[in-house]
Amino acid sequence: MVQLDRDERNTVAQKICGSLKRQIMGGAYARGASLPSTRALAAELGVSRTTVTAAYEQLLAEGFIEIRQGATALVAPTLELGVPKMRRRPKRLRPPVLSGYGRRVSDLPPSDPAPPRKMIADFRYGDLAGTDFPTLAWKRALNAALPRHSERLRYDDPRGSLKLRSALQAYLWRARSLQCDADQIVVVNGSQQGLDLCTRLLLDAGNRVVIEDPCYVSARETLLAAGAATVPIEVASDGLRTDQLATIKDARLCYVTPSHQFPLGAVMSVGRRQELLAWVGRTGAYVIEDDYDSEYRFDIKPIPPLHGLDEAGRVIYLGTVSKTLSPRLRLGYMVVPLPLREVFAKAKQIVDRHTPTLEQEALADFIASGAYERHVRRVRRRNAERRAVLLKALSTKLGRQIVVSGADAGLHVVVWFRQVPRRLERRLIEAGQAAGLGLYPITPLYSSSTVAYRPAWAGLVMGYAGLDEVRIERGVDRLAIVLDAVTAPAAG
Ligand SMILES: Cc1ncc(COP(=O)(O)O)c(C=O)c1O
Repeated sequence: MVQLDRDERNTVAQKICGSLKRQIMGGAYARGASLPSTRALAAELGVSRTTVTAAYEQLLAEGFIEIRQGATALVAPTLELGVPKMRRRPKRLRPPVLSGYGRRVSDLPPSDPAPPRKMIADFRYGDLAGTDFPTLAWKRALNAALPRHSERLRYDDPRGSLKLRSALQAYLWRARSLQCDADQIVVVNGSQQGLDLCTRLLLDAGNRVVIEDPCYVSARETLLAAGAATVPIEVASDGLRTDQLATIKDARLCYVTPSHQFPLGAVMSVGRRQELLAWVGRTGAYVIEDDYDSEYRFDIKPIPPLHGLDEAGRVIYLGTVSKTLSPRLRLGYMVVPLPLREVFAKAKQIVDRHTPTLEQEALADFIASGAYERHVRRVRRRNAERRAVLLKALSTKLGRQIVVSGADAGLHVVVWFRQVPRRLERRLIEAGQAAGLGLYPITPLYSSSTVAYRPAWAGLVMGYAGLDEVRIERGVDRLAIVLDAVTAPAAG
């Protein structure tokens, strides 16, 4: 502890007082928040308690704090506070020197801004309704998992908790007829991290990667950020046009959504699956099979994953709970071919050690107890109801003005507007927004808006799992009005 004479003590006390005042006024402490005790602050600053007490007395005298009998000092509850400020910025900031990866990331278009809060209906795809989350059951699973952590806290297996991997292995077999060892499973922070690990381990900048066209934007961006030269291939009504693969001999990867193509909804036929695997056998490429929403089949039978047909160990399977529980949990899993399991485990360890253990164990209990599959059945029924209302509203309000695709499965539909040329797609979105609708265009999902196989009409990807029936109906009513305005002769 620094020993100070009286004058020095006063100067130090003033400095402490000044610095606390600036922090309080800058919003570093909220109104009514406790300041550190005089003992704790004195120990932290290496000065005597008398010095800190003098600083607090000054703050008290000036009305910045209150000191209640026997309690620590509080920021005065009535004080007007500012927003926390950054230190003064230097006048000229040098442009950052980014890595190749950094440059590619900064070249990607910015993400969609958050929609305004007050909307009639936000048809953003990927959102789920908060009311569908099994709050009580999840709390129970978390509570049950908590005591298991008290003994010793240490890093876990990078592949994920064995309990969860075993529960997932059994689940995948039951629900998807997918057979694998628990050793082949790596628990990841959503399928997004699985994709990122694939690019780190299997791609060098400049390598070619086959993608579907249109394609899931986050997958395409992950590949582009890694420096991949993407090769977009048309999607037909029975999936990726695998007949067009014959001329592509040097691709390292192929990213597909065979159970329910995102966004068009095609299910890849067995013939195309075989053609894809034959191509993989000839070229040595790996296939990333993104099975993101296989829990939601409505008018069609479940089709086992491509993984089951793969005898050469070239398919990397990705699954997620983002469509069944919550995208905020950031829990997903990958099934990797045996020869890749060690390198994936090591990469996961390097990237973030492992996915948080508590949530993994809660999910393990949730799956093993049967609660997960009960929940999936419940949300499937719930989403089937929403989907029925959406399809009915679209058909009654917009009828022959639209063509709907991809409604057999998943949590979104694609709506094409036969009277709106694609150059007016932006206008449709903006008019929708002005009228209180969150609408999302299909064009950014295509590699180019001019590809011949893309309909010439404007199109929307409409998610419905985050909305209740009333909002869905109101949203479609409003969409019909917006559409009239956009297609009115003067608008063209
Ligand atoms: C095609 C596709 N794959 C995967 C995901 C889920 O990603 P994550 O598991 O990272 O939340 C989504 C979510 O919208 C998706 O559309």
